[in-house]
Amino acid sequence: ISTRAFATSSARAVINNVTVIGGGLMGSGIAQVAAQNGNHVTLLEVNPELLQKAQTNIATNLTRVAKKLYKDDPNAAQQFVEDAKKRIQGTTKAEESVGDADLVVEAIVENMEIKHKLFKTLDEAAPQKTLFASNTSSLSIGEIASVVKRKDKFGGLHFFNPVPVMKLLEVVRIPEQSEETYQAFMAWGKSIGKSCVTCKDTPGFIVNRLLVPYIAEAIRMLERGDASAKDIDTAMKLGAGYPMGPIELADYVGHDTTNSILQGWQKKFPGNPLFVPCESTKKLVQEKKLGVKSGEGYYKYN
Ligand code: CAA
Ligand code: NAD
Repeated sequence: ISTRAFATSSARAVINNVTVIGGGLMGSGIAQVAAQNGNHVTLLEVNPELLQKAQTNIATNLTRVAKKLYKDDPNAAQQFVEDAKKRIQGTTKAEESVGDADLVVEAIVENMEIKHKLFKTLDEAAPQKTLFASNTSSLSIGEIASVVKRKDKFGGLHFFNPVPVMKLLEVVRIPEQSEETYQAFMAWGKSIGKSCVTCKDTPGFIVNRLLVPYIAEAIRMLERGDASAKDIDTAMKLGAGYPMGPIELADYVGHDTTNSILQGWQKKFPGNPLFVPCESTKKLVQEKKLGVKSGEGYYKYN
């Protein structure tokens, strides 16, 4: 977590009003981090119940961050939470969510058709100045951008789970993206306390291109019976310095997510052995054992 409660970057002049689309796991984290760094945030969800759920999650995680930032000052911690919460307003109307947005970050379901429908609507409704970004894990940014007119103002801003904790932001370029847009993305990332890396629009960008095949290979090792889940995890934590082992991480990310990433890549790039989905993961998804979020995956959670 950045120890800078508020940003000082010159990006503030460019990006101050941020609209986050989708208040699930990632969107609520993105909205939180933007608000705690001084941005005015509009959060769009599909219905009032999900909006409320997102706002509750944000409040809980803001409290965790505040406790860490203001260990010895509970009043300051409370003020920090209240201030950040005040900067987030919720809506369920897509057209209204982008009224004065400098930047839109989309974090909805990982489905090209649904993302296309959303961005078409937003492109019509948003002012000329608004930059558009997708937080997609595995889809092509260029393909998502194909439905908007403002391709020069489009890119990938890929955050990591848990967003308030993970320091990285991948800034994904597409050929049509202007230098100004790229610089604004980089400056905004820095202003919300992230370390930015830049990459081209290839499957999985940097992290997921390496991480997803690594997780799949660990699961195949487990499927062959070469070692237990616990021993694979212990090995990678103590032998390679990872904070979580690959099987734990698979449960943490969610098997629906990794499975659909691999299925999508396999369909698009058949023949690449790194992109083959795992049989035991497919079975877990069928049984709705999605990992930590459903209480069971390769491990059980209470
Ligand atoms: N919001 C705010 N703070 C949070 C948080 C959240 N959602 N989750 C954890 N924290 C804080 C905790 O409060 C705790 O703070 P203190 O140190 O002050 O107590 C700190 O983070 C550590 O948390 P925990 O003690 O609960 O547990 P931990 O030490 O095991 O750390 C972890 C948890 C940060 C998740 C760590 O295990 C880790 O880094 N794991 C790897 C995560 C990873 O690889 N993420 C990327 C997944 S891939 C992805 O996201 C891309 C994609 O497209 C699929
Ligand atoms: P999630 O299912 O937790 O949240 C998605 C939210 O979007 C849901 O609450 C849903 O109600 C909402 N939504 C769906 N359609 C919408 C619409 N048209 N308008 C407004 N809201 C809508 O999913 P997530 O894990 O937060 O993933 C979101 C995006 O982030 C995906 O593209 C995913 O690939 C990417 N991502 C996920 C992770 C991860 O570890 N889960 C990490 C990085 C990136």
